[in-house]
Amino acid sequence: MTKIYIFSALLISYFAYSLAVYTRGTDETASGPLPGKTEVTLGKRLYQEKNCSSCHQLYGLGGYLGPELTTAFSDPNRGELYLRAFLQNGGPRMPKFDFTEKEINSIISYLEYIDHSAISYRKK
Ligand code: HEC
Repeated sequence: MTKIYIFSALLISYFAYSLAVYTRGTDETASGPLPGKTEVTLGKRLYQEKNCSSCHQLYGLGGYLGPELTTAFSDPNRGELYLRAFLQNGGPRMPKFDFTEKEINSIISYLEYIDHSAISYRKK
C-alpha cells in the first residue's frame, strides 16, 4: 500500500512539475531579464541583430577579427568615448552601422552591463 502512495506522490509531482515547466514559457533568458533596463535590452538586441559577435568576443566567445569587448567599458585605455567613436564612425575594419544616437547609447549601456558582470575577469 505504501508503495502505491509513494508512486502516486511521485506521479503527481511529475505532472505538477511538467505543467510548471511547460506553461511558464521561455521569454526570459536563463539568467533572468536584464534588470529593469529597457535600454540594456535594446542594446543586447542590436548586438545580436547586427551580429557583432561574428567579429567580437564577450566572455571570450565570438569572432576574432575585432577586439574582446567584455571589459571595454571600464578599460582605462578604451572607455565610453572611445567605444562611442567606433560605433559612430566604424574603423579601418570595423563596419560603420549608421546607428542613431539612441541606438549607440543602448549598445554602450549593454556593454556597461556586461562589464559589471565581469568583475573577476577585470584586470586591476
Ligand atoms: C566585420 C567585423 C566586425 C563587426 C561585424 C563589428 N565589428 Fe566592431 N570592430 C571590428 C574591428 C576589426 C575593430 C578594431 C578596429 C578596426 O580595425 O576597425 C572593431 C572595434 C570595435 C570597437 C572599439 C573597441 C576596441 O577595443 O577597439 C567597438 C566598441 C566595437 N567594435 C563594437 C562593435 C559592435 C557593438 C558591433 C555590432 C553592432 C560591431 N563592433 C561589429 C570589427 C567588427
